[in-house]
Amino acid sequence: MLGNFTYCNPTKLYFGKDALDGLSKELPKYGKNILLVYGGGSIKKNGIYDKVIKILKANGKEIFEDGGVMPNPTIEKVHEGVARAKAAKADFILAVGGGSVCDYAKALSVSIHCKGDIWKKYFIDFEEPTCELVPVGCVLTMVGTGSEMNGGSVITNHAEKLKIGHVFGEEVYPKFSILNPEFTYTLPKYQMVAGIFDIMSHILEQYFSGTDDNTSDYVAEGLLRSLIHSAEIAVVDPNNYDARSNIMWTATWALNTLIAKGKTTDWMVHMLGQAVGAHTDATHGMTLSAVSIPYYRYILPYGLDKFVRYAVNVWGVNPAGKTDEETANAGLDAMQAWMEKTGLVMNISELGATEETIEGIAKSTLVMDGGYKVLDAKEIKSILKASL
Ligand code: NZQ
Ligand code: ZN
Repeated sequence: MLGNFTYCNPTKLYFGKDALDGLSKELPKYGKNILLVYGGGSIKKNGIYDKVIKILKANGKEIFEDGGVMPNPTIEKVHEGVARAKAAKADFILAVGGGSVCDYAKALSVSIHCKGDIWKKYFIDFEEPTCELVPVGCVLTMVGTGSEMNGGSVITNHAEKLKIGHVFGEEVYPKFSILNPEFTYTLPKYQMVAGIFDIMSHILEQYFSGTDDNTSDYVAEGLLRSLIHSAEIAVVDPNNYDARSNIMWTATWALNTLIAKGKTTDWMVHMLGQAVGAHTDATHGMTLSAVSIPYYRYILPYGLDKFVRYAVNVWGVNPAGKTDEETANAGLDAMQAWMEKTGLVMNISELGATEETIEGIAKSTLVMDGGYKVLDAKEIKSILKASL
């Protein structure tokens, strides 16, 4: 394990078919005024909204609603939510939805009592909050981002063509998250598989870094194998509880900082994907699937040993009689075939990117230096072109 680190994850989880019962256990700890944050209306159609309202009322809470949080929440919406939260004198923010709703709730948490330009402070200058925070709790309805147990908040600024994530500290993590796998059954298949790939990508972003012998890599391989197995079941049988519950739990552990311990971590697939997202507003997981194979084929020679290990331990490639390059590429072939079978978007053209937008997307791509290759502008453009 590399370096010195601390590990603390303060989010309490309630998991399973009865998880929502946990809400009544948590609500008494917070004040009366609840800002109920949700998305475009799926929770009203599938009945989760009614269940939550009933519990809030039974606990004597005053409910102030802030619906209409869009996928890839915008800074304008955050400003609107801050005004609502102030008017409501919100004591607590309850996010009911997917990663977008949870991320948005965290953005409100750090912004309600903050003076000044919150976009610049948190998403350009990456400053930490110094103001009073409004605590957040989540009822998760879409699986993938890990936002239910981390400090991440990804906000889009269309005017500046930027989509930027700030990973806040423990004080911004949700105080609790309610994870009922059955709440995810109504997700359209497109969203379910996008979430599945988001999970895979989170694990790979941490796995493809470093050359030391590291427990985090063994945990990552186990999570990947469980994900691949359960995803194969869920795409043909979406109401399979075993599969959906395993996917939900894997998503949480994929990005709650555990498997990043002792790792430098890469995150270049996310930087490329977020840049594509800033220009197309496409579904997050699909922006990642569309750039992953070209990216990994390109960096493979720089991290060859790890790609060989990935092929053998995750995809079951038999290395006998093969060169290391052949084994590593066979691993990526297996991943690509699995992605196609799962129904993932395999190129950015399908998401609305064109030859003409490559220059702009490349400009919006932040460069990270924790992986096997630090990319220059020319390499970014060529990976994006190979993803068209
Ligand atoms: O808005 P509603 O009507 O609720 O519909 C949503 C939305 O259209 C729908 N949905 C959610 N639960 C549903 C459902 N439809 C039917 N039944 C249900 N049970 O699904 C659509 C997508 O929801 P969204 O929350 O946008 O998806 P996701 O969870 O993938 O979140 C994506 C956002 O999270 C950010 C992404 O960049 C993106 O902005 N990320 C956050 C991270 C973090 N906090 O650590 C890390 C990730 O890498 C990611 O960047
Ligand atoms: Zn992601």
